[in-house]
Amino acid sequence: MTTLPKLGSGSRLHFHGPLSADRADRLVADLALRGPATVVDYGSGWGELLLRVLAAVPGARGTGIDVHGPDVARGRALAAERGLADRATFVEGPAADHTEPADLVLSIGAYQAFGSIPEALEALRGRVRPGGRLLFGAEVWERTPTESELAAMWPGMTADDCLYLPDLVDAALAAGFRPLRVETATRAEWEEFESGYGADVEEWLLDNPGHPEAADLRAKLDEHLSIWLRGTHGVFGFAYLTLGVTA
Ligand SMILES: C[S@@+](CC[C@H](N)C(=O)[O-])C[C@H]1O[C@@H](n2cnc3c(N)ncnc32)[C@H](O)[C@@H]1O
Repeated sequence: MTTLPKLGSGSRLHFHGPLSADRADRLVADLALRGPATVVDYGSGWGELLLRVLAAVPGARGTGIDVHGPDVARGRALAAERGLADRATFVEGPAADHTEPADLVLSIGAYQAFGSIPEALEALRGRVRPGGRLLFGAEVWERTPTESELAAMWPGMTADDCLYLPDLVDAALAAGFRPLRVETATRAEWEEFESGYGADVEEWLLDNPGHPEAADLRAKLDEHLSIWLRGTHGVFGFAYLTLGVTA
């Protein structure tokens, strides 16, 4: 009996978003420079970035919080594999329940845990210690979507559902942050992420074409492909803001 793969499990991905190894390494090196003693990742997924920060800052303690049980379990397993289990804690539950401020806060692709982007930035501002840092990652419009691109995305999607980069930075300023770095994902990072998202399921389907669940899985993959290639490709950007607060 073959095990049915699950679309979206991210088993072929290091990060659940458009983030290359090079950018991750540089972000981690920058964030490690200040030697944060405490790190919290809200909507951590399996916590790859959190674990890389902990590996780069000896003695730092980190908490990853996520509502998705399998990701939390993967995070715990990765921490154990890398000898970080004594410094990394993974909590299964809503981010909003955790309010303890930290020296370094991460929120990548998970602002929805606190509501809208302005609401998330305000909530996160209260969770960063004086002199601390927030690495905030969120989708932005790379350009204005056409009506047909919006229709090809998710039901009910409108141009108001995403900010443009300058407005995202303004929202960070309004929440009390200063921008230390403003950067955006490349087309190659998006393509690596979107291709990797379904790669395990695509390969499984090629090996198990007659499985009773094959048609359903293929339909889900086709839907994902269509949303990406007819909707978000070249239209969705992703911003990484390194934000500081006063000491
Ligand atoms: C796009 S993934 C990003 C994961 C991770 N930050 C990364 O970049 O690899 C968004 C994550 O936010 C989590 N999430 C969504 N709502 C949440 C909430 N209310 N509290 C905690 N986590 C939440 C999801 O389960 C998911 O793992």
